[in-house]
Amino acid sequence: MTILSNLIKPGSTIGIIGGGQLGRMMAFSAKERGYRIAVLDPTPDCPTAQVADWHIEAAYDDLDALKELAERSDVLTYEFENVDAETIDRVQNEVNIAIPQGTDLLLITQNRLSEKDFLKKAGIPIASYAKIETKADLIDAISTLGYPCVLKTIRGGYDGKGQSVLKSDSDIAEAVSLLGNGICVLEEWVSFKKELSIMVARNESGQVVTMPVSENIHYDNILLKSIVPARVSDETLNEARLIAETIAEKMALVGVLGVELFFTESGEIYANELAPRPHNSGHYSIEACSDSQFDLHIRAICGYPLPEVELLKPAVMVNILGEHFEKALELNSSQPKWHVHDYGKNGVKVGRKMGHVTILTDAIEETLRTIDETKIWN
Ligand SMILES: Nc1ncnc2c1ncn2[C@@H]1O[C@H](COP(=O)(O)OP(=O)(O)O)[C@@H](O)[C@H]1O
Ligand SMILES: [Mg+2]
Repeated sequence: MTILSNLIKPGSTIGIIGGGQLGRMMAFSAKERGYRIAVLDPTPDCPTAQVADWHIEAAYDDLDALKELAERSDVLTYEFENVDAETIDRVQNEVNIAIPQGTDLLLITQNRLSEKDFLKKAGIPIASYAKIETKADLIDAISTLGYPCVLKTIRGGYDGKGQSVLKSDSDIAEAVSLLGNGICVLEEWVSFKKELSIMVARNESGQVVTMPVSENIHYDNILLKSIVPARVSDETLNEARLIAETIAEKMALVGVLGVELFFTESGEIYANELAPRPHNSGHYSIEACSDSQFDLHIRAICGYPLPEVELLKPAVMVNILGEHFEKALELNSSQPKWHVHDYGKNGVKVGRKMGHVTILTDAIEETLRTIDETKIWN
């Protein structure tokens, strides 16, 4: 399926499907190494297009546009999971282009049910779940999983969208309306103590490298802060690493993958969700690590050996959403040591990821207090 007999050398063109902030940060890393960037995205002046050599303005499933991207590029990558795998396979068949990540990874991760089936089969601990197609399925599954539980659409959900939490029978009617969007999955509620995540990279020679574990704080289901290293025991960190390595190997991953985890009150770890690409909770690595998640991704898809990643300094990353944007930009003046990233998006909207701030620190608690004192994120 994947053809990558040669190294993709600097000077070659990397084609990115998707022009958001992840593509933009991949492009920064690739540019540093001398690559050229082509991007496919329907939005004019999107974050990646601003730093790319070529922008093909078209929908992600536009076969002709994807073929044009492939013809201009030496290797293709994607920065999100909602690309049509079948269309990508067709492009690969019609244009001789390396797509090292392949499409199996997409097929597994763009569907919550196949993702859970994969994790279960791989022996990774996950919350109990059931496939739900009808109200009868839902009622039946609730009798096994109990309340609270959460119904999720199997496709297209992100930042808590396409989810309905059920606490009692009175929540059934609302949850049933989600079924109008297609098949869903019901999950038992995990009363987690912390949410963690870990990025893992693998190249075609099978070399696997994990990054430091982050501790993630969500607000309204959107990632707000990541703290690295996660404030958990070494045993838990090792367990997270083992889970990530197992997933990478069982998937024959090429590129970077993000693993979201729940750390429970009783000290267990469950995998929650996978992202077949760099992940928001790994952005800290740009400044805090010897190599960033984007560096690993570019090295992996271009066929280069992967370095062991060192955490150079603990870090806190805070997301800048639309409602934080204006005040957060003032941090460029008031906090010269903080790394303020602006994704260059046109159109500031509440809840929209506009940028992030990374703060390197030897005093995490004090830094968290300083962040609170800015009153930007209250
Ligand atoms: N089974 C669950 N138990 C407890 N919390 C959950 C569960 N599923 C989701 N959540 C909460 O909702 C957030 C978003 O859910 P997730 O499955 O990661 O979907 P997405 O990030 O694609 O919106 C999680 O980070 C977590 O805070
Ligand atoms: Mg998630």
